Amino acid sequence: MDGNGRWAGKRALKRFLGHQKGAESVQFVVETASRINLPWLTLYAFSLENNLRRPKSEVSFLMKLLKNYLVGNVKRMNDNNVRMAYIGRTHDLPQEVQDTMQWASEATTKNTGTTLTLALNYGARSEIVDAVRTILTDLTTEAHTRGCSVEDLLGAGALESLDEPTIARALYTAHMPDPDLVIRTSGEQRISNFLLWQIAYSEIFVTDRLWPDFNGLHLLEAINAYQHRERRFGGLGESFTDEDLNNLEPAEEVAAEIKDHLILRPDAKSEAKSETKPDAVLTRR
Ligand code: FPP
Repeated sequence: MDGNGRWAGKRALKRFLGHQKGAESVQFVVETASRINLPWLTLYAFSLENNLRRPKSEVSFLMKLLKNYLVGNVKRMNDNNVRMAYIGRTHDLPQEVQDTMQWASEATTKNTGTTLTLALNYGARSEIVDAVRTILTDLTTEAHTRGCSVEDLLGAGALESLDEPTIARALYTAHMPDPDLVIRTSGEQRISNFLLWQIAYSEIFVTDRLWPDFNGLHLLEAINAYQHRERRFGGLGESFTDEDLNNLEPAEEVAAEIKDHLILRPDAKSEAKSETKPDAVLTRR
């Protein structure tokens, strides 16, 4: 969700307004994901570094925005069969934000469509640190239970049985598949500490579009680009057939279909008269 600040700066607005506009983009993208039965959508909404390095006033505005977004959109999540989930050191967020997050995930827990995962107070390196801590804690607990030392367990095969699946199971994303596609807005060509373990073989789509200008059609555009790529996973690739995203309806067709249901918001209409044509905003019928 990169580019909120730049979106505001280009219009001589305060950064806060860019974030507000960015929060509005979220629902359009989520509802398009739900429309094409995308099983997983993960948004990097607030990094550990954002939390540590941004002014307190900006952080507390983002927390308020997140809370309002959840409160204001749970009904639409339910209408669209979207389930809310979170990854990150969420226990370090303000208590009232955590309470709202829990309420939203409980209120949408029965939904079976898209799982919208918000990465909040998230950093991939700290996720790996947390995973290693979990593995070591489990090992120590097992040693206690068996009445032996950790060293004994390591000598008895625990070291050899520590493999990639062991680490994957200890990550926040243990219950999720690795991402097929990473979309980076605002033209940044870096990963910025996002899902470092999980995106080893993900395809990357970089768009210059700033997050507040990114809507459902742009998601489809990215998926369409993905559908034309060949993934090889270090192999030769000829026999590769069963990727989830390839099994979705072709993004071009869905884009053509939903284009009929695009309307311009009142504010976008007035901007449309100016020389820079705004992006259409996706709404539901
Ligand atoms: C990146 O823009 C965006 C963020 C740091 C925060 C995004 C979070 C929200 C909009 C809060 C609400 C969240 C949800 C899911 C509703 P930036 O400030 O880094 O922009 P810049 O790179 O242009 O400066």
